[in-house]
Amino acid sequence: MNDRQAMLPEFKRLIKEYPPPTIEELFTLLNSDEEFKKNRMRYFETQEDGFCYSHTVPGNQKTTWNFVRIQNYFENVRKICDELEKTFNVRVFCSSYYSPESSQAFPAHFDAYDLFGVQVFGSKKWKIWPQLPESVYDKELTPAQGPIISDWIPRFQPEVMVANPGDVFYVAARRPHEVIALDSDSFSHMFAVLDADSKFVDF
Ligand SMILES: [Fe+2]
Repeated sequence: MNDRQAMLPEFKRLIKEYPPPTIEELFTLLNSDEEFKKNRMRYFETQEDGFCYSHTVPGNQKTTWNFVRIQNYFENVRKICDELEKTFNVRVFCSSYYSPESSQAFPAHFDAYDLFGVQVFGSKKWKIWPQLPESVYDKELTPAQGPIISDWIPRFQPEVMVANPGDVFYVAARRPHEVIALDSDSFSHMFAVLDADSKFVDF
């Protein structure tokens, strides 16, 4: 267990003390704030024929709604991020995901930051592979990470974790993962804890 993972109980306490917005509150904001709609919404979908990404609702029932970096819109989320930033001395942001049953937003990929997640409703199955070594990792990488993980993940059995309502969990940076919503709609908040030297500055 690393230092960050050891903070999971504290993260759980913060979620209880400062409950993040409900899906209804996020939809209310979406419908009332044009700037939020324009700059803070992404729609993702992965099926057998590939990965789709859109800034507008595609009208497809398997699309995941991603509310991006919501920490400056909700006081409670801001407080959780502030507490985590104080603890880790790095930037923290929060994105929320609303996924239809049996859907998958992204193909297997890794992120450049650690994740603290809370599953609000529905369940999601996470497959998580061992951490990529620094030697194959470059912080400039964007979602076009396919060639790196397509060499890496077939070599290992992934850990399988099911996040159920109320669960909190931690996924270290550079651990490739694939997430599938199970048999009902699913909603989760993901807090990204950046590296001290992260070049990710788009807040
Ligand atoms: Fe991810």
